[in-house]
Amino acid sequence: MENRPSPSTDQLSDAELATKLDPDLLPKHLAVIMDGNGRWAEARSLPRIAGHREGIKSVREMITLCLELGIQALTIYAFSQENWNRPTTEINALMGLLEHYLSTERNKLIEQGVRFRTIGRTESLPTSALQWVRAAEQETAHLDKLHLTVALSYGGRSEIVDAIRGLVREAQDGKFQPEDIDEALVHHYLYTHDLPDPDLLIRTSGETRISNFLLWQLAYTELYFTPTLWPDFRRRELLLALLEFQRRERRFGRVFSSLSS
Ligand code: IPE
Ligand code: IPE
Ligand code: MG
Repeated sequence: MENRPSPSTDQLSDAELATKLDPDLLPKHLAVIMDGNGRWAEARSLPRIAGHREGIKSVREMITLCLELGIQALTIYAFSQENWNRPTTEINALMGLLEHYLSTERNKLIEQGVRFRTIGRTESLPTSALQWVRAAEQETAHLDKLHLTVALSYGGRSEIVDAIRGLVREAQDGKFQPEDIDEALVHHYLYTHDLPDPDLLIRTSGETRISNFLLWQLAYTELYFTPTLWPDFRRRELLLALLEFQRRERRFGRVFSSLSS
């Protein structure tokens, strides 16, 4: 029989790419640093907010594909603590977009079975944005097809500081001794205490840094960096990232038997 090489992924349709995925090797928890909205807009001589608006379409596609594939948790970085240092006009526009997204998308999230939650020092958000966030959290609290966690006013170091504060407070109340503190207990005090650590982190826009995202949780996460800007990161891009993830060998510091001896 003729031994033909398998077609490269760029010759395959999205549906064909999806069939190449091994359902047993999908990430349980996918984390995404959605970066490059501003550059997407600037390249089109549009205001930066136009890039943020377009980026919401990518968020929708990620949610839909995670649901289709059965990925249980998706955590997206939407606004960092450091992003408060941006011009007020951009911050206000982003907060307006968050409200708009939650007001228009809430019912769809409920229909899709998405549990919406936030992590971060969300008390810093403007009151009206915070009200929409709390309402969406409450209305979706019973759902569990997909755990969508949106990092808002989030900083990985602040999360660790907040965990330490929680630990020290309870140690002072006599709940445990310093020597009882282990990694599992620290995990319990993190914002993400009821999520597994991410298996895969995607960052778009060509930047190869973590920018203060999930510092504790990313210890053994596979990192995937792509030059694609977030508004261009759609279904096909995620399928390609997942295929690349499935080619990785996750060793967690061990040596596999085929390599040992
Ligand atoms: C990511 O896009 C979204 C947020 C940080 C809110 P950017 O706004 O950082 O876009 P670039 O990096 O300037 O292109
Ligand atoms: C990281 O992107 C934060 C979010 C995507 C929300 P930034 O654009 O703020 O990160 P830096 O400044 O390039 O590190
Ligand atoms: Mg950026």
